[in-house]
Amino acid sequence: MSALASVSAKAQTAPASAPYIAVEKITGSQSLRDGIEVQAGAATLRITALRDDILRIRVASAGTFPEDASWAVLPASRSKSVDVHQSEDAGSVGFRTASLDVRVERSPLRLVIRDLDGTIISADAVGRATTFQHGGFSVYKDMPTNEHYFGLGDKTGSFDRRNQAFTLWNTDVGFQESIDPIYKSIPFFMGINGGRSYGLFLDNTWRTWFDFGKQSRDSYSFGADGGPLDYFLIYGPTPKQVVEGYAYLTGKPPLPPLWTLGFQQSRYSYTPESQVREIADRLRADKIPSDVLYLDIDYQYKNRPFTVDPKTFPNFPGLVSDLRKQHFHLVTITDLHIAHAPAQGYTPYDSGTAGDHFVKNPDGSEFVGIVWPGPAVFPDFTRASTREWWGGLYKQFAQEGVAGFWNDMNEPSVFDGPGKTMPLNSVHRIEEPGFATRTATHAEIHNIVGLENARATYEGLLKLHPDERPFVLTRATFAGGQRYGFTWTGDNAATWNHLRLATQMLLNLGLSGISFVGDDVGGFNRSPGPELLTRWIEVGAFNPFYRDHAEKGSLPHEVWVHGPEQEAIRRRYIETRYRLLPYLYTLADEASRTGIPIMRPIFLEFPEVFAPSSSAFNGLDTEFLLGPSLLIAPSPFGETPDDYTVSFPKGQWYDFWTGLKTATPPPSPSSFDIVTGATGANSPATARIHPVLDTLPVYVRGGSILPVQPLIQSTDETPVGPLELRIYPGKECAGSLYLDDGHTFRYQHGEFLRQNFTCESDGNSVRVGFGVRQGTYAPWWKTVEVVIYDWPSKQVDAALSNNTAQLKTTYDASKRALHILMPDSAKETELRVRTH
Ligand code: NOJ
Repeated sequence: MSALASVSAKAQTAPASAPYIAVEKITGSQSLRDGIEVQAGAATLRITALRDDILRIRVASAGTFPEDASWAVLPASRSKSVDVHQSEDAGSVGFRTASLDVRVERSPLRLVIRDLDGTIISADAVGRATTFQHGGFSVYKDMPTNEHYFGLGDKTGSFDRRNQAFTLWNTDVGFQESIDPIYKSIPFFMGINGGRSYGLFLDNTWRTWFDFGKQSRDSYSFGADGGPLDYFLIYGPTPKQVVEGYAYLTGKPPLPPLWTLGFQQSRYSYTPESQVREIADRLRADKIPSDVLYLDIDYQYKNRPFTVDPKTFPNFPGLVSDLRKQHFHLVTITDLHIAHAPAQGYTPYDSGTAGDHFVKNPDGSEFVGIVWPGPAVFPDFTRASTREWWGGLYKQFAQEGVAGFWNDMNEPSVFDGPGKTMPLNSVHRIEEPGFATRTATHAEIHNIVGLENARATYEGLLKLHPDERPFVLTRATFAGGQRYGFTWTGDNAATWNHLRLATQMLLNLGLSGISFVGDDVGGFNRSPGPELLTRWIEVGAFNPFYRDHAEKGSLPHEVWVHGPEQEAIRRRYIETRYRLLPYLYTLADEASRTGIPIMRPIFLEFPEVFAPSSSAFNGLDTEFLLGPSLLIAPSPFGETPDDYTVSFPKGQWYDFWTGLKTATPPPSPSSFDIVTGATGANSPATARIHPVLDTLPVYVRGGSILPVQPLIQSTDETPVGPLELRIYPGKECAGSLYLDDGHTFRYQHGEFLRQNFTCESDGNSVRVGFGVRQGTYAPWWKTVEVVIYDWPSKQVDAALSNNTAQLKTTYDASKRALHILMPDSAKETELRVRTH
């Protein structure tokens, strides 16, 4: 750390009287091994390279940098640096890394970052200096006409954040398209301009804002009400590289237990106990594959977290173990507010008070606010000791076999507080490795209460059951929240608009580092009609987290309501989800190793849709990919019977349901092409879809190898039969499979199974490569059924490279699908198939 930086151990406040400072002109500069430090009057700008493609940019208004600590960025990543090559000329100072050219223009002071070809990636806006005022700051960047913006978590509004402005302040609010802010604050976005992408992460926990051209047409801007001006620029150039860079900074999601990828049934609230049992029995009787049931707040005594109402749930441990016998995992809600119940034998309050674990008023008394239990106090999660105490509260539930926990209301929601939260001057304490010990106002801590709440739960569970992967579902979170588990989009509503809105919200959450995401299937507020619920269950089957949940007072919306016809359709989609679990779990493994989300926008796999020569790709905000291979294309206006158009990214696509190639007629010129005189070769291929309730259009990318398993009713069941490998011939044909015991950490010690597959085809012959199997975990299958789509005839020779015996084949002419049964092979081998 340079002499200019010093740690302030005092509370960081946002003094209204702070002078106005504009960072306008370089008055001095100093080279650093890993970057540069620039003086601009009283202000200091420091730019350092953590990696060749990740820069950290800090600006101190009065020369002294605030404390160098972060709740979001991993210590191991923050401490990294690379050597840079300084460069200076008459107009600028700066440096180069192996990927970027960084220049600070002298007057007016302007930070301009280019790739090594000289193309500008990001530049301070011309004529708009960075300013500090009222304890906060504003930064302005050029906004090229063709740049698109994504991220900021599950903000409402349109998918592309361009032309919108947002406030990041965790807020408990039933939302619709134009409500902002909502529950989460993830101050990270990605800019994509033609073939180049970059990410920008503002590491500031205060109330922040981002304006993508609403205030000014030519620049976007961001800022905060207080706290440090400290941001990271992550260079791509591909969107995937940006997502990976952001995961490098803020962490990857842990591999979740397999059961969390199953179907989950919830309601506010199933009570009494007999109702929970009825739901469990009905799910099994109706053969709705399912893994998880939820208890919402009413199972508690007087809504007090970590209690059970003895009247309505007289035999709680018995219920948990009976459900387990039926192969259900039980998740209970445990809100962060602890009932203010002194001298009533309520242990969480008594032990919390004894340990001084609650947030305070400025006068040192406990802050008390009204939430579900009535008057409540709030754990001070920025203290390591408070998180440890909180984690210990799970001991009994964990011993009784409750499988996972739901942290709700952690914005924090305070019904009688200003803005439905705590007063901004409530006092938190930071007592935390890596931070100076100090007090902090709620204005600074508010946005990370949910993050640290989920962390306390996650780490507490890990301590209680070190061999089990924890499951934590949180509503509020901040950047880095992916490290502690799952999130959902909060209180949506049973409307077609919400079903549509969910896709962009979940896609943007994934781009913001959070892979394990879902919404309340069927809508939380109000009651869905038969078609809406069916459609929602269809789409949800392809979302990472799949939970049906409903508000108190709404009509039941379990799978069987609305009669057997609807139920049959819904069951089929849930079954499809279960058959796809090998694929989904392989994606979960990938997310945990790379940070690449499970649910992906088209451009993550096909960045060329933003290439300057491309015509507009309609459907970017309604279509989505599950992993690299599946394209899901719900109707953009599901409430109408109208036909709609699906756009396909480049390449061959297959219909997932029939296995047949989609007709992809040569693209006709779009209006864009006509205007620009192009031929239409760059327009996406499209298909016209007539919506049919029982068919959600799902397509498979040619070149995919999809692992599929026989149907099971819960993830406790071992599938019986062969593993199916569905081969969709096409370019760069490949696939992979990951498997382990589904719930422990033994995979970290080699007990996993990973295998890669490839295929090459020429219409009359196919060669399927089975790579060497890695890891020691034994598969459940003894045979593999290879299904080759778009196959011309039943007359075939099929044999393995290491065995001349002919393999058994069957041919389904209607699907043009050849089925080949082969013994499982852990060794490298090749399946060779040709017509004769
Ligand atoms: C608000 C949550 O968003 C909702 O899912 C839950 O059912 C209620 N709180 C009651 O706990």
